[in-house]
Amino acid sequence: MEKKITVDGLTFVPYITKEEIEKEVKRVAAELRDDLKGGNPLFLCVLTGSFIFAADLIREVGLNDAPVAFVRYSSYEGTSSSGQVKQLMGLKEDISGRDVVIVEDIVDTGLTASLMVEDLKKRNPASIRFVTLLHKPESSKTGFKPDYVAFSIPPKFIIGYGLDLDGKVRNLKDIYVIQDQQD
Ligand code: HPA
Ligand code: MG
Repeated sequence: MEKKITVDGLTFVPYITKEEIEKEVKRVAAELRDDLKGGNPLFLCVLTGSFIFAADLIREVGLNDAPVAFVRYSSYEGTSSSGQVKQLMGLKEDISGRDVVIVEDIVDTGLTASLMVEDLKKRNPASIRFVTLLHKPESSKTGFKPDYVAFSIPPKFIIGYGLDLDGKVRNLKDIYVIQDQQD
């Protein structure tokens, strides 16, 4: 993995390899498996970005009885946050009494995350845990802290493994960072 790629005129360089991703997914999955023991878990994946992480994580956690549900929000346009969070697809499943595990691709400003947690609390879950593949703590506008983080990263724009640039490159197996923001 050493190749640069260009998307919409922007250059990206390799940042986190698929091997590193796999290792951290296993670590987070083992923590979750332990913490959810004896519980009543339900995985709630935040579309669209988390679909690849969620697929790997949920299989690695290996809880056969845990349902999987989806919600969808939107706040990003191009390479920056619009600052406005829209709910595009709500939750139909009943989560009362469930140990809800929210699975997100990235926590950036924390606006979507905090809104989502506040919203879900009103539906009487037994507990809520927040798992994210990536966290940009320096971008936080809310002080929101995810419970489980695979990678904590600086506030640089990244793509791949589910993360997009205007709908593109979610398919990449590794994670790439925008070149002019690399140190
Ligand atoms: N890349 C792609 N999508 C995102 C990012 C990012 O760095 N931050 C928040 N959504
Ligand atoms: Mg997202």
